[in-house]
Amino acid sequence: MKRYKILFVCLGNICRSPAAHGVMQHLLEMEGLDHMVEVDSCGTYGGHQGQLPDHRMRRHAARRGYDLTHRSRPIEQRDFSECDMIVAMDEANARDLKRMARIDITPRLVMMGDYLSKGQPLDYVPDPYYGGPDGFELALDLIEDACAHLLVEIKTKLQQ
Ligand code: 4NP
Repeated sequence: MKRYKILFVCLGNICRSPAAHGVMQHLLEMEGLDHMVEVDSCGTYGGHQGQLPDHRMRRHAARRGYDLTHRSRPIEQRDFSECDMIVAMDEANARDLKRMARIDITPRLVMMGDYLSKGQPLDYVPDPYYGGPDGFELALDLIEDACAHLLVEIKTKLQQ
């Protein structure tokens, strides 16, 4: 059976989306659902293609138990048709995705912020690339929170 496919997207695919990819993969493995759900990530910008996640994100994520080994890649047209759920980290990512897609992706495009708990300080995952360590911690806090809620929704979808 074809696995449900979820794709996390940010700008460079070296900070936020590979972190979300690693966190969600970890959650799925813990729940024994990785054989039913495939996770991937990519960027709307291809300038970091082939690179491992930013060393700062790798270090902060490793402290929480996530080993981030994804290699950055830009989004391709086939992602738009092959993925069941495309998760944008911020509004700019969503806008770029809609502009780039040659098909209507509205039914499968969701915002990471929509899965955050009400008490979170932001309703999107901000880009930590140009900031300090706190930005990476905040991004990971938000990503862990959103992924936990996303998992609940994916479980429901798998039962449908
Ligand atoms: P990301 O962060 O979108 O979370 O991977 C960024 C990485 C690189 C750049 C911007 C954001 N950049 O401009 O190179």
